[in-house]
Amino acid sequence: MVEIEVNALGKKKVELRNPWIYNREIKSIVGNPELGEVGILKSGEKLVAIGFVNTKSKIVFRVLDFNVNVDVGRVIRERIKNAVDRRKDLSNTNSLRLIHAEADGLPGLVVDKYGDNVICSFDSAGADRFKSEIVYAIKELVKPKGIYEKANAVRGKERLDVKNQVLYGQVDDEFIVFENGKRFKTYLKDSQKTGFYLDQRKNRQVVSNFCGERTLDLFAHSGAFGIYTNAKFTKFVEISKKTADLIKDNCKLNNVENFEIVNGDVFKFLESENNRYDLIVIDPPAFAKNRNSLSSAKRGLKYLLVNSLKLLEKGGYLAIFSCSHVVGYKELLDISLSSSIAIGISLEVVEFLKQDIDHPSLLNVPSSLYLTGLLLKKVN
Ligand SMILES: C[S@@+](CC[C@H](N)C(=O)[O-])C[C@H]1O[C@@H](n2cnc3c(N)ncnc32)[C@H](O)[C@@H]1O
Repeated sequence: MVEIEVNALGKKKVELRNPWIYNREIKSIVGNPELGEVGILKSGEKLVAIGFVNTKSKIVFRVLDFNVNVDVGRVIRERIKNAVDRRKDLSNTNSLRLIHAEADGLPGLVVDKYGDNVICSFDSAGADRFKSEIVYAIKELVKPKGIYEKANAVRGKERLDVKNQVLYGQVDDEFIVFENGKRFKTYLKDSQKTGFYLDQRKNRQVVSNFCGERTLDLFAHSGAFGIYTNAKFTKFVEISKKTADLIKDNCKLNNVENFEIVNGDVFKFLESENNRYDLIVIDPPAFAKNRNSLSSAKRGLKYLLVNSLKLLEKGGYLAIFSCSHVVGYKELLDISLSSSIAIGISLEVVEFLKQDIDHPSLLNVPSSLYLTGLLLKKVN
């Protein structure tokens, strides 16, 4: 089996039980591994982990287990079973994340379930290599009517092909997500993510408790936040035409009657908007995928906050989200403080928000807590 020895940087990562070893953290590689082959990680003479190797990726080693004496096929199957079992009680929806990659002990494997449809992303060479075993286990444990592979652009970084395909049975093109008594039309095959932003389920419910008469839903996607608030008037802003068209259908499905959809760019919209709102939701795409883009991401978020806060009534609420672990609670708090100072107001932190529980996060896997948010109140 291929053996990879870490250098001093890699040793620190192993001590922190961080499962991603980058090429700059490696001292030597013995063997000529194929894409996603199982290998052993060494620190000095000690065997410290077993995992997937991809010498063509920046992340050369992804830890499957810190105990090297395991049967990899069996571990994968057991982890899929554990992931499915731990979500059995999530009853307020027909759609959920079944497997959340490293946080469920399955590097690079993301699996969402929409009723009888299963959508998988194999985002690491290791997950891709074990695709048929994974599909077999899901068929057995979940008994779906179909399994679809959604290939993320991130596969390119692993030197894997980017191709969507049916892996088993039949998968619906359209599906109605049911959550917390609300219904949302969604496209499963031709869509952002695996179809719907399942990770915001709980936050939508929390935030909707703080709505007044007028809601502004920025980066609305298919309108879920705004629809939950059931306000007297809701304005949605979304740049994608196909997605913005879904908002109309979803308002109808949920008897929301008084609304306006702006199919355009939020940044431009904020330049000219001067209506006032009691609740504003800002849920942008990830502005910072890595530390290099942190300062431009902060600038973007500050622009959004400053200009949205100007539209917020005194006593109103604003929810701001970041869906990249690079911008977490600390950064959101800093940006919120500096935005409030810039326009001479005070903000109260009402809630710390995070991804829903079917998207678990492990402390030793920093990227697994990728969705954070603040619910703020404009005090004066
Ligand atoms: C994280 S998703 C929002 C999810 C949504 N809040 C929900 O709960 O389903 C971000 C959305 O912002 C849209 N978007 C990206 N850039 C935008 C821009 N500059 N202006 C408006 N919408 C944008 C994307 O098309 C995507 O639908």
